[in-house]
Amino acid sequence: MSRGAFITLEGIEGAGKSTVAQWLGEWLGAHGLIVRLTREPGGTELAERVRRIVLERGREQVSAQAETLLMFAARAIHLDNLIRPALAAGEWVLSDRFTDATRAYQGGGRGVDPQWIDTLAAHVHADLVPTCTLLLDLPVALGLQRARARRGETDRFEAETEAFFERIRAAYLSLARCEPHRFRIIDASAPVAAVREQVAAALAPWLESSRGASR
Ligand code: TMP
Repeated sequence: MSRGAFITLEGIEGAGKSTVAQWLGEWLGAHGLIVRLTREPGGTELAERVRRIVLERGREQVSAQAETLLMFAARAIHLDNLIRPALAAGEWVLSDRFTDATRAYQGGGRGVDPQWIDTLAAHVHADLVPTCTLLLDLPVALGLQRARARRGETDRFEAETEAFFERIRAAYLSLARCEPHRFRIIDASAPVAAVREQVAAALAPWLESSRGASR
């Protein structure tokens, strides 16, 4: 059985994560790997219900703490029902966002205590750190322009200010600097073909070691 890997995609709105995830899933599949494409918040039926709750713009106030806990509630469900079983079966799990999104959005964007986020992460998935995290980085103005051009109604996050997304981008870049072995920064402002090339180059070492394990 080949060894699975847990790949996460991160970035601000409009970075093109979903498009890259779709393409990457097919590319890895073409290399003979079994790939599970998923996302956060969500990924399972129940976690997708939590996603709707946390993204909708309702009348009630949702504090940054409540938002953080909802993200981790969805994550715990996602881990138990999809991520861990898929990895145990030797699959490659490709998740559009994971805990770094909580660090960047709730920590960097909303000012939630990073130590509290790390404590929650340690309780929910002490056993699991992504094999590789692809940070799709681009200027905030460009990301928001792309995101707003393709969406109709905005959710609670998309309705935020440019300054909020600047803090998130800075938080992501700082996380990447702190863990250079896990993170790969991808220039997401580049043309699609160039983005794909960067992603393929970033994952080549893991692809190679997974093949080695199955030989
Ligand atoms: P999406 O844009 O990738 O579909 O994600 C939905 C929103 O959820 C996005 O604005 C980022 C936000 N989010 C957080 O704020 N914290 C998290 O932990 C996750 C996973 C997502």
